[in-house]
Amino acid sequence: MSEVRTQVGIVGAGPAGLLLSHLLHLQGIESIVLETRTREYVEGRIRAGVLEQGTVDLLKQTGLGERMGREGLLHGGVNIRFAGHSHRIDFVELTGKAVTVYGQHEVVKDLIGARLEAGGRILFEVQDVRFSNLDGDCPRISFRDVHGADLEAVCDFVAGCDGFHGVSRPSIPADALTIFERVYPLAWLGVLAESPPISEELIYVNHERGFALFSMRSPEITRLYLQCAPNEDIAEWPDERIWEELQRRLVGEDSAPGLEKGRILQKSVTAMRSIVVEPMCYGRLFLAGDAAHIVPPTGAKGMNLAVADVAVLACALSMFYASGRTDGLEEYSETCLRRVWKAQRFSSWMTNTLHRFAEHTSFERRVQLAELDYLVNSRAAMRSLAENYVGLTMD
Ligand code: FAD
Ligand code: PHB
Repeated sequence: MSEVRTQVGIVGAGPAGLLLSHLLHLQGIESIVLETRTREYVEGRIRAGVLEQGTVDLLKQTGLGERMGREGLLHGGVNIRFAGHSHRIDFVELTGKAVTVYGQHEVVKDLIGARLEAGGRILFEVQDVRFSNLDGDCPRISFRDVHGADLEAVCDFVAGCDGFHGVSRPSIPADALTIFERVYPLAWLGVLAESPPISEELIYVNHERGFALFSMRSPEITRLYLQCAPNEDIAEWPDERIWEELQRRLVGEDSAPGLEKGRILQKSVTAMRSIVVEPMCYGRLFLAGDAAHIVPPTGAKGMNLAVADVAVLACALSMFYASGRTDGLEEYSETCLRRVWKAQRFSSWMTNTLHRFAEHTSFERRVQLAELDYLVNSRAAMRSLAENYVGLTMD
């Protein structure tokens, strides 16, 4: 088996792994990124769309802001709709900050472009990724490359950025981790459609028939979600049914302009759960992004948390390489978890407030509507939502 030497072995070429590799490169630290999928697959995977201001600032400061600056859509607020009326929450007025709508796959494309241009090593289509010596000074990652060759990366550190279904987290002995989990009794049916936006900003709807979300990717492409059952059969959702249901929940029966039913380019069902693992490290393996935590997408926090984790990790690693200091690495998990739990709190509040829960009694439904009524009539409550949505300050 041939050996490849690197300082940081990174598993996963999602936003977490790629951005970590980019940030380390800017500090003169070498890494290799290992990814099971093809480049085309990761560049085409439609997922998150909302970037917090801190995420945008970091991408800009590190030379990744050019296309995002041109194509990203700056949103100064968001709409919350319930009981047939929409209410705008003005982020800029309440916090002085905004969010940017720019697809996660576009961030991934920009990152891959920047890494390859700088001579970075990203190995796509690898198989059989396994770790050894994680609790020693010289952890190793064995894998088979795209040509079928068995290789071993010999590293100083390993970053597990391989998402929820990756190998990093399960490679940690079960008794070294505590897992906190909540599974929601609902899912989102998401579609990407060739239809112009009906609103300049996102619309989150709590409707009698279930949650709906109107989002977008560009002036021609919308991203829409409908609350559905976790075991929903997508075959039962022909395009016409999706448009009818979206029209009902997003626009209602009134005379407001309807959705333009364009071609549906992609459909998928995403189950909803919250997970946190503690601590986010084991020996010289550091977990980042979805490998360490999952949030329900209602708060638009998942990718932003992945970015925040790797910003902390890159800083701790550069401190180590610059001066041998290990305190940043020792505090990595604790620093990230403070932000992660606040994002969990916010995402769970957004999920509980905006969805219909079959198990709710009529009393609980009335309390939910009162919560929404309070939210849109209280400056303090709107500010709390705005502050969390645009992103808490980075540690
Ligand atoms: P991932 O993007 O999952 O990347 C992990 C990578 O590791 C993948 O490329 C995978 O192929 C690779 N991999 C897996 N196993 C292995 C292995 N064994 N070896 C090598 N590579 C491996 N977040 C937001 O911030 N805002 C939003 O608006 C938002 N909306 C969302 C909407 C939906 C419908 C969904 C599903 C998610 C949404 N998210 C949102 C969450 C966001 O997409 C994730 O949190 C984000 O992808 C996490 O990035 P990551 O790099 O940690 O993981
Ligand atoms: C999206 O545009 O995909 C999106 C926006 C807001 C969310 C989740 C997803 O809360």
